[in-house]
Amino acid sequence: MINKTYKVEQIKERKVKKYYIKTFGCQMNVYDSQRVAAILEQLGFSAAASLPQADIVIFNTCHIREKAAEKVFSDLGRLNLIKEERAAQGKDTIIGLIGCVVQAEDEQIAKRAPFVDFALGPLTYHRLPEVLAKISRRKGTTIIDTEFPVESKFDFLPANHSHSGCSYLAIQEGCNNFCTYCVVPYTRGVETSRPVEDVIQEAKRLVDEGSVELNLLGQNVNSYHGEDSSGKERNLAYLLRRLNDIEGLKRIRYTTSYPADVNDDLIACHHDLPKLMPYLHLPIQSGSDSILKAMNRRHTSGQYLEIIAKLREANPNLGFSSDFIVGFPGETDKDFQATLDVVNQVKYIQAFSFKYSRRAGTPAALMPNQVEEKIKKERLEILQKLLFSYQLKFNKESIGKVMPVLFENKGRHKGQLIGRTPYMQNLHAELGKEYMNKIVNIKITEATTNSLSGIKEGE
Ligand code: 5AD
Ligand code: SF4
Repeated sequence: MINKTYKVEQIKERKVKKYYIKTFGCQMNVYDSQRVAAILEQLGFSAAASLPQADIVIFNTCHIREKAAEKVFSDLGRLNLIKEERAAQGKDTIIGLIGCVVQAEDEQIAKRAPFVDFALGPLTYHRLPEVLAKISRRKGTTIIDTEFPVESKFDFLPANHSHSGCSYLAIQEGCNNFCTYCVVPYTRGVETSRPVEDVIQEAKRLVDEGSVELNLLGQNVNSYHGEDSSGKERNLAYLLRRLNDIEGLKRIRYTTSYPADVNDDLIACHHDLPKLMPYLHLPIQSGSDSILKAMNRRHTSGQYLEIIAKLREANPNLGFSSDFIVGFPGETDKDFQATLDVVNQVKYIQAFSFKYSRRAGTPAALMPNQVEEKIKKERLEILQKLLFSYQLKFNKESIGKVMPVLFENKGRHKGQLIGRTPYMQNLHAELGKEYMNKIVNIKITEATTNSLSGIKEGE
């Protein structure tokens, strides 16, 4: 266990006081950064207003596509210049790297960026207090910890606190699916689920502190199989039903789901649970069965469409989003057309699409018939044009409707707030600060591909 008093003293001695965390990548990283901030606050740090004011800067990194990983190293170069400028003013700066790039690059970090003081993988960041204490003794070296530990980090982290009306809550981590293009099983490890009561307790605390919406996170969230207090394994549907009973909680979401793990129990939740939002992110990646097979996905496009049909039957108002990869090795024009066909059938209300990115260590990186960059670019443009057309259509159809919107951010202009509709659409409205973190009924007046505008109902 961590001896907290001792660590705080060490840190006070070094007069290290302010922290700054920059987060790259997915929602899970946003959640992890919040938890790291809580560790630092427990150690006596406070948030710095800007990066150059920080005595400890942490980059929480993403390794999913090549661009994301390379961006970290170029940003680190700039960060080192700030470290040197601060050193010239007699100020010490600790630089830390956490997240998936650490797990993947491991010892390479000390070679590529030797000024990094510590690097912790996604499963070891709870060891931060021990690491900070060590840094004072081992100045000039990079401490790296990329173990897949036996202990669960969740047992060692300080309580998670509500930051706004909507909170993330990690319930599951890691993935056993090994899609052939994906680094996640190597960076986040095998699938693990948090115990049911831990999740319920965290959810209740977040709601007591003001969250009205919870977004349950996991790399493969619908394969959740946490133990209840009697040691019995429970699925996501059970957890959703328990969460639906929490008084004060108004909205529940979960992401990201794996199509083959959507069972009838979960589908029934979309009919039964009023708090479950009518929006589901269900990635298909490709519409071609031969590409899905080469990707090692455990579903065909037909099975995927069947699941969508069942979900729609359970709740006809459901809107779907997906992830797509174009230019996977061996993808022909016909395969790509199959992806467009799926889009035309499902009519996604939102989507995320990417060019295939070759990731070292994954099976697809070694596959023959890698697709030319030019073709990937062309296909991505065609796919995005189609996806955006459905997104715009859906947004335009929202005009005139009244939707409950949860406001979470200030807008660019004074007196403006930004929130989310049940369908995850961004919405701007002229509203005072008192509506921040509240759900307000808004009549939609305008729509573009990426956002809606509206006015408070009755005004
Ligand atoms: N290349 C391109 N996109 C990828 N994704 C994961 N790995 C890769 C890769 N190597 C995409 C998938 C996944 C999303 C989070 O990122 O679509 O669902
Ligand atoms: Fe990666 Fe596939 Fe697991 Fe998703 S399901 S995290 S794409 S391996």
